Amino acid sequence: MKLPPQTGIWRHDYLLQPDIPTRFRLTLGEGRTEITALAVTRYRPLHLLREDHNPTGSHKDRAMAFLVSLAQREATPGFVISTSGNAGISLAQYARAGGRKAVVLMKPGRNRAARLVAAAAGCPIMCGKPINYANAARRWYGLTDMRTSRHPQASQGYKTIAMAICESGLTIDSLFMFSTSFATIMGIFEGYRYLHARFGLAVPRLYAVLGGDFHPFPVPPPGRRGNRHIQAWGRDGWHYIDSQGKAPAYDDALTIGGACSRERFMRICRLLHSTGGGAVYVRSTCCREQVDAALQHNRLAPSLQSRLALYAAQAFLHHGRVLRPLVVYSGSAPAGGAISSAGFHAGNLSDLRRILREYFAQ
Ligand SMILES: Cc1ncc(COP(=O)(O)O)c(C=O)c1O
Repeated sequence: MKLPPQTGIWRHDYLLQPDIPTRFRLTLGEGRTEITALAVTRYRPLHLLREDHNPTGSHKDRAMAFLVSLAQREATPGFVISTSGNAGISLAQYARAGGRKAVVLMKPGRNRAARLVAAAAGCPIMCGKPINYANAARRWYGLTDMRTSRHPQASQGYKTIAMAICESGLTIDSLFMFSTSFATIMGIFEGYRYLHARFGLAVPRLYAVLGGDFHPFPVPPPGRRGNRHIQAWGRDGWHYIDSQGKAPAYDDALTIGGACSRERFMRICRLLHSTGGGAVYVRSTCCREQVDAALQHNRLAPSLQSRLALYAAQAFLHHGRVLRPLVVYSGSAPAGGAISSAGFHAGNLSDLRRILREYFAQ
């Protein structure tokens, strides 16, 4: 459904750059997300920004509303994205609203995401190398790459998250957000920078929470001694938070894998540090039961993303490092699903060519 252009992220169009003429603006009503208190028995209440209440189920809608509208000015035949799920579902729905095609490349097993992409007239393709195949599809058909880690305007729509929090009237001192590309946390940072410059509003400490299989930058291996589930990047290297709440310096920082350059990561960390926050790495296996119990108690689906962000916020709260945290409950990447036939499977580039030929012939 197309809503009047002053709804959705466009309510805050003064924040969004470049300015997009009204006739190109698309919205599905994204951004009407509320803040709820998560009742956690052991700790003071934590607040959640319910970004899963966006039209397609995740915060990605804020980015896609802007990026797809931006592309409406050009004669692109369609979009391509490599994704773990949420961004692809969102892209497919906004592309359909704009009358464009959307090719979504994912690793095998994202069946629920594939079904939702197909339902929005997108083309879900499972393959072993989503990033490489997305590049091939982009070149062959002149598609626009919508990967948020690459797109220069990826953060724009996310600025409106800061406005949503501000408008709620809730006082927070810190914000925790599961991050992979850092596009969202950077958008939130920019939104708060505007609010600070314009209204003198204090910027909360911003924490990008990382963990699980998502290592966008080289991370050190987990600590050897004690109960070191959580680590935070401090001014002089990796810090942990151990069971006593101490944060000893990390001294043997080996690195394991990573897709984001160290330079970019350091630049982002410096911005996060300027708010008093930083990057926090949480081991995905840690304290599952404790966090899941809190989520289930509040009828929320435990997902890797929400679990990690919530765990970090709880640990910081528990150790008195923050007093009024907000967790951006960003949605859950829709893994699994019963039907394995969802989406197309491309074992090689000729499969990809054939699938795309048929999709673009429709
Ligand atoms: C549910 C969820 N939370 C958080 C993120 C991370 O967002 P960003 O890539 O902007 O850091 C993603 C996307 O990868 C996501 O799907």
